[in-house]
Amino acid sequence: MRVGVLTGGGDCPGLNAVIRAVVRKGVRQHGFEFVGYRDGWRGPLEGATMELGVEQCRGILPRGGTILGSSRTNPFKIDGGVERIEENLAKDGVEALVAIGGEDTLGVATKLADLGVNVVGVPKTIDNDLSGTDFTFGFDTAVNIATEAIDRLHTTAESHHRVLVVEVMGRHAGWIALHSGIAGGASAVLIPEQPFDIDALCAHVETRFKTKYAPIIVVSEGAVPAEGGDMTLVSGEKDAFGHVRLGGIGDRLAHEIENRTGKEARAVVLGHIQRGGTPTAFDRWLATRFGLQAIDAVAEGDFGTMMALRGTRIVRVPLIEGTGELKLVSDEEYAEAQVFFG
Ligand code: F6P
Repeated sequence: MRVGVLTGGGDCPGLNAVIRAVVRKGVRQHGFEFVGYRDGWRGPLEGATMELGVEQCRGILPRGGTILGSSRTNPFKIDGGVERIEENLAKDGVEALVAIGGEDTLGVATKLADLGVNVVGVPKTIDNDLSGTDFTFGFDTAVNIATEAIDRLHTTAESHHRVLVVEVMGRHAGWIALHSGIAGGASAVLIPEQPFDIDALCAHVETRFKTKYAPIIVVSEGAVPAEGGDMTLVSGEKDAFGHVRLGGIGDRLAHEIENRTGKEARAVVLGHIQRGGTPTAFDRWLATRFGLQAIDAVAEGDFGTMMALRGTRIVRVPLIEGTGELKLVSDEEYAEAQVFFG
């Protein structure tokens, strides 16, 4: 059988580990051939392919990014997009697709599966906001990068008696902020699920200075103030999935804290550093096991499924379980972090 592989959406450490596992097991144990589709759904849409075999996968396990490239192309937003994908798959002799992506890429996979395309999904996103799986790969790497940054910021903040605001990724869900904030001993963690009160935040800042310790505030890019606030946007322009570019909440907060408390405050935006570079051992392990399970699903004809981590087991769930609803931080989980605020 010829199997197509694509990676879509924001890149994320571990994508290459999935591709390698899919190909290695597919070739060695199932006797499959592979077609690499370039740049997410653009590949099958435009017939943009690359050679994909064991050779192309040598040495890619620890490499960040994706050898296939990625994009946020949405075939459902393009006239005749679905028909073009079906035609190109037939032309390439591809009978099944492994789609590796987040909410958007797997959302497309879900709709294509409903239309009869043989597709299995592998969940990825540093945001960890896909339902149906305990974790997505890429998240652990992002949390470790953010935690290391917080550790480093503690010492410089203390030396200068400053407030340091660390803006991390997290459009709708505050998982990166929550985990790195707990691991890094933040004075407050602000997430999209819990609109924040600026007075309470300034009180945490003051308390922290009273104990002769400089405050570190970790904020998700999608966090919003409680009173009538909106998301802080870099641009109002939307991508093919309707997302605007977020960013700037860190700067806004630092400015506000400085004005209200009189303490010097600076902001650090971690941005795409969280998505780049080599995956952690955990993410390589998770991505590899997702890949092995995905190609077995193809071999068994178990299409319309998404690979998921449940405890330590990799299971298959219907694609819609992963994409139907985002996995958000609960009040209880947030309350655990709040114990350490101030
Ligand atoms: O979805 C993953 C993510 O990293 C979000 O946290 C962030 O809002 C978005 O992608 C940024 O996307 P881009 O790199 O396209 O600006």
